[in-house]
Amino acid sequence: MKTLVTYMSQTGNTKKIAEAIYGELNGEKEIKPISEVKNLEGYDLAFIGFPILQFDVPPVIKNFLSANTKGKNIAIFMTHAVPEGFEAIHSWTGSYKQAAVDANIVDAFDCQGELAQPVIDMLLKGNDPKMKAFGEMGPSTKGQPDDSRVQAAKEFARKVQAKV
Ligand SMILES: Cc1cc2nc3c(=O)[nH]c(=O)nc-3n(C[C@H](O)[C@H](O)[C@H](O)COP(=O)(O)O)c2cc1C
Repeated sequence: MKTLVTYMSQTGNTKKIAEAIYGELNGEKEIKPISEVKNLEGYDLAFIGFPILQFDVPPVIKNFLSANTKGKNIAIFMTHAVPEGFEAIHSWTGSYKQAAVDANIVDAFDCQGELAQPVIDMLLKGNDPKMKAFGEMGPSTKGQPDDSRVQAAKEFARKVQAKV
């Protein structure tokens, strides 16, 4: 069983979750940024992680999923600044399902990640009230993903691998 953990991460939160997942996996395994992955050939399972940006799955991830996941076992992990269970979260995260419509999506995990200070500053400076409100929420995200979230990601990894 060969497993890949691949991720997009601009400020380190999704990478932290990727490393926690990777650490839990048994068997042959690799971890690399998604920019270094050509395709998923040769892997029995791929964990694919990314941050939610602009209330959606990043376009580069949607493209990767559409192009590479047909017939593949995949597990999705995501980080976002809003707390888990935030009312709009499913409408933001859900588009990975359309992009990976021909994949076997084994499971998905999401958790809060810190909004980096330069991002908070940028959001507060803008004119869009939606973005400003987002920036104001920034300080409450400090330290995420914390240890409890990292532990939850590890449990997710074990459960996914047991299912494949
Ligand atoms: C340009 C930009 C847009 C973002 N948009 C959202 C968003 O719509 N919803 C959300 O919950 N978080 C949003 N975030 C916060 C990130 O999803 C969050 O900080 C994530 O953990 C970053 O992951 P990374 O450190 O792996 O890059 C945004 C961050 C950036 C930089």
